[in-house]
Amino acid sequence: MKKNAAVIGYGGMGAGFHVKNILTSDVVNLAGIYDIDPAKQAKAAADGVKVYESREALLADPSIDMVTVATPNDVHEEIAIAALEAGKNVISEKPVTLSMESLERMIAAANKAGKIFSVHQNRRFDVDALAMKQIHDSGEIGEVINIESRIHGSRGIPSDWRGIKKYGGGMLYDWGIHLIDQACMILGYDIKSVQCHFDHITNDEVDDGFQLNLEFASGQRAYIEVGTYNFIAMPRFYMRAKKGSAIITDWRVPAHVVKCKAWHESDVIPVVNGSGLTKTMAPRDSITTDEYDVPRPVSDVHDYYRNFVRAIDGLETQMVTHDQMRTVLRIIMKAFESVDNGGNVVEW
Ligand SMILES: NC(=O)c1ccc[n+]([C@@H]2O[C@H](COP(=O)([O-])OP(=O)(O)OC[C@H]3O[C@@H](n4cnc5c(N)ncnc54)[C@H](O)[C@@H]3O)[C@@H](O)[C@H]2O)c1
Repeated sequence: MKKNAAVIGYGGMGAGFHVKNILTSDVVNLAGIYDIDPAKQAKAAADGVKVYESREALLADPSIDMVTVATPNDVHEEIAIAALEAGKNVISEKPVTLSMESLERMIAAANKAGKIFSVHQNRRFDVDALAMKQIHDSGEIGEVINIESRIHGSRGIPSDWRGIKKYGGGMLYDWGIHLIDQACMILGYDIKSVQCHFDHITNDEVDDGFQLNLEFASGQRAYIEVGTYNFIAMPRFYMRAKKGSAIITDWRVPAHVVKCKAWHESDVIPVVNGSGLTKTMAPRDSITTDEYDVPRPVSDVHDYYRNFVRAIDGLETQMVTHDQMRTVLRIIMKAFESVDNGGNVVEW
């Protein structure tokens, strides 16, 4: 049977994503929304959505099974704990919260209430990240050495709460948490060290971009970069492995693989490169490599709510687990520590 879902926060994500998706979901009905801003309450009513007059009224409605928190980052904890204490299952938008202590309070409240509590890592459904995971897991280009994951725009950081520290602003929390979560989805959750630098090009208070290095216990590495002042975007993903390389130049195009089929070439012809000559950097040909595009993986973001509902019913484990939430948030905390220490490597 469908669950009744309410949304707190009727802004960009609450109205533009959660309510829209709930209305087209096969596992949840929309019970209604609450937003602290009367203008948003009025907008929801004009959109034909049921509006609760207060958060207390929403949480007191016994027909509501689950609540999605889609407010600015600094109030996720308070709202999520109130909802859990009212006996609701809770999805928090990302970042789940702004400190490890805060996350532990949320997890403790969920455990005490015996309710499902997870974070909306919807970008696990991005087909570019899924393609990279597929190439990694298949072993088709051998053991993966490192991945590079970048998102580049040129419009600066948004002028809303995302530019203000006390609300949990900054690109590390905003986009970074997605790219970190994707890197862990591909390479695992066993982290060895974190190192990070921030950009402050358009905003002094919070990072408007960053460059982050993650080292995994396996020895594999991820380089993660978000830029809001990049007028030329670098490729979205790059992967190096022992028997080939993969690239996704842009999230609209499939992954492209070049796979080594013969390591040695008997007669490499030196090429002119700049003002010199090189054999080492001579391009490969089809005698020693195969090249192909990887068909884009099939993905349905509705699967996030489907899994959450099945987790409530005890039929599946929640796809974003508490331990994964802990690891991803801890990487963010270690990144802040690295920035505070001048970009030093911080051990796990
Ligand atoms: N997963 C994703 O892809 C994704 C994308 C965008 C935003 N987000 C996340 O969603 C959350 C909201 O972001 P947004 O872009 O929708 O912001 P927004 O500013 O557009 O909307 C936030 C809404 O929350 C309301 N609000 C603020 N405090 C409240 C409170 N105490 N109680 C009730 N309502 C309150 C505001 O009035 C506003 O309408 C953030 O955590 C953000 O990181 C996630």
